[in-house]
Amino acid sequence: MAELADLHELMPPRAGLFLVLEGPDKSGKSTQAALLVRSLRGRGLDVIHTREPGGTSLAEAVRRILLNPKQNIVPLAELFLYEASRAQHTHETILPALKRGQIVVSERYAMASLAYQGCARGLGLPVVRTLNRVASFGLVPDLTLVLDIPESEFGSRPRGRLDRIEREGSAFRKKVRDAYRSLSRTEPGTVLVNGRMPLEDLRRLILKRVEALLSKTGLHDCAPPPALKGSPSGGGGLRLGGC
Ligand SMILES: Nc1ncnc2c1ncn2[C@@H]1O[C@H](COP(=O)(O)OP(=O)(O)O)[C@@H](O)[C@H]1O
Ligand SMILES: [Mg+2]
Repeated sequence: MAELADLHELMPPRAGLFLVLEGPDKSGKSTQAALLVRSLRGRGLDVIHTREPGGTSLAEAVRRILLNPKQNIVPLAELFLYEASRAQHTHETILPALKRGQIVVSERYAMASLAYQGCARGLGLPVVRTLNRVASFGLVPDLTLVLDIPESEFGSRPRGRLDRIEREGSAFRKKVRDAYRSLSRTEPGTVLVNGRMPLEDLRRLILKRVEALLSKTGLHDCAPPPALKGSPSGGGGLRLGGC
């Protein structure tokens, strides 16, 4: 435990920017993340594109377990697997990138566990918030864009082989969607966008939001980035006392 507390103490001041795309399955996260990354790179910015669950070798292995339709996983085990993936992803990929001053674009992060495991699986928000905070080392995205689509849209988008979560029924998907809409109102730094808009309109809207943030940080100058004092995701602050 002392080791974990030390790690949180040592969390470096961040220089980069952490952007997350959230939303129900097939809401367009992968599509818009790729477009955003391309737009930002086109402006000469240093960007990494990553995803949850995944983003490291271990976390991608956990992803394969989580999304395997043949795997039987109880909700609490599912939550711990997502959090294990998040801890590794945050420690190995996201924090080092932010420290180097890179922009990190991630498909999903901690809000997904609030929506899926907290609300749709019914584990409740408090336990998920607690584990999120531990697994993310206290890191909070600078901006979360939630792509909102009605449950009915899922069936009308192209379908390949459905993963374990995508095989859940419409009642589950409706809970996920309602949870995201409600979390968008309460979680800081979150913007709800209409995921049914045409791709290009969405791309421009998302880029506009990100550019507004970039202009506050100085990252858009392509100069060595300044440390973001007072950034919502800055330096840890997580204490695991009491043992
Ligand atoms: N704005 C949109 N309007 C219509 N179809 C879309 C839109 N965005 C994405 N799609 C399509 O929906 C499907 C799911 O998109 P994807 O980006 O893979 O979603 P996610 O990563 O959220 O599961 C893809 O076939 C994609 O081409
Ligand atoms: Mg995707």
